[in-house]
Amino acid sequence: MRVLVTDHVFGDLEAEREALAAIGCELELAPDDDLAAHVEGVDGILVCFAPVDARVIEAASGCKVIARYGIGVDNVDVAAATRNGIQVTNVPDYCLDEVADHAMALLLASARGVVTAARTVREGEWTVPQEGIHRIAGRRLALIGVGRIGSRVADRARAFGYEVVAYDPYVDGSARSVEEAVSGADAVSLHAPLTDETKHVIGDATLDAMERSPVLVNTSRGGLVDLDAVTRALDDGRLSGVALDVTEPEPLPADHPLRTHPRAIITPHMSFYSAEAQAELQRRAVDEVVRALTGEPPRCPVNALQPA
Ligand SMILES: NC(=O)c1ccc[n+]([C@@H]2O[C@H](COP(=O)([O-])OP(=O)(O)OC[C@H]3O[C@@H](n4cnc5c(N)ncnc54)[C@H](O)[C@@H]3O)[C@@H](O)[C@H]2O)c1
Repeated sequence: MRVLVTDHVFGDLEAEREALAAIGCELELAPDDDLAAHVEGVDGILVCFAPVDARVIEAASGCKVIARYGIGVDNVDVAAATRNGIQVTNVPDYCLDEVADHAMALLLASARGVVTAARTVREGEWTVPQEGIHRIAGRRLALIGVGRIGSRVADRARAFGYEVVAYDPYVDGSARSVEEAVSGADAVSLHAPLTDETKHVIGDATLDAMERSPVLVNTSRGGLVDLDAVTRALDDGRLSGVALDVTEPEPLPADHPLRTHPRAIITPHMSFYSAEAQAELQRRAVDEVVRALTGEPPRCPVNALQPA
């Protein structure tokens, strides 16, 4: 049996290799080119960020499982996998505290001006900033999406004195629209999955509704944010700052203005990372492949398959 890793961001794949060897299965790493040309005959696929679209799935005849290294499955055509009888799995329970902590780190660093101040000290200055920093307690944070991670951010933010409002169409008692949630907010943090509904949810219409020049934090998916609109909003004052762990595209081009903008903080899609979370992610993802190839039911199925 053969399992293909399409792409990854880990130091090594020893955990995967060991778990698969135990069931007589070989691990292969896909070359960095047309994925569809390499999936023929594989029994399983482990995928990090590579697009596993319908063309790749059609070419993977005989594949039993596509295991996403992560929570979001926006880079996998789940409907095509279902049509082809392929189980899709994810790991919804691995880095929830890490992402919530990273969102807070970005929010607090932005609110306290930490990155700019540290840079000026490094450059030899010793000057107290005279504008742009306000007391956090009593300010309002709008969360877009309050699932596992968003609700953890809410708990953390309340401990700092933020008043938390939320928009999540699947949670009772939330705001009626994104515009309503963000209009009076001093900070906005995104925690919804990337879907057709949430694509560019932060664009000109929502930015125009923001009345208090908030900071925008995104640790969810780059596709939630229209980056051109956000760059304009930062320059014309509709936003006071942006703090993004995810961008569209990734990596953010080396000459993109947000990389060097004085009111932007950009991190390289690392919210998920801690040594502990990464080890859990690799182990739980490959476990799904092992389960599928040994006839066990999946632990975290994303799609429901018709019984054979
Ligand atoms: N940057 C990273 O390293 C990293 C790591 C893990 C997860 N993520 C991202 O974080 C996202 C959230 O993760 P989670 O574990 O909290 O997922 P979750 O499924 O527990 O929560 C997502 C929430 O978004 C809500 N939602 C769905 N559509 C919405 C819409 N149109 N508007 C507002 N809310 C909507 C859902 O109702 C749900 O409550 C993931 O989908 C993933 O893309 C990023």
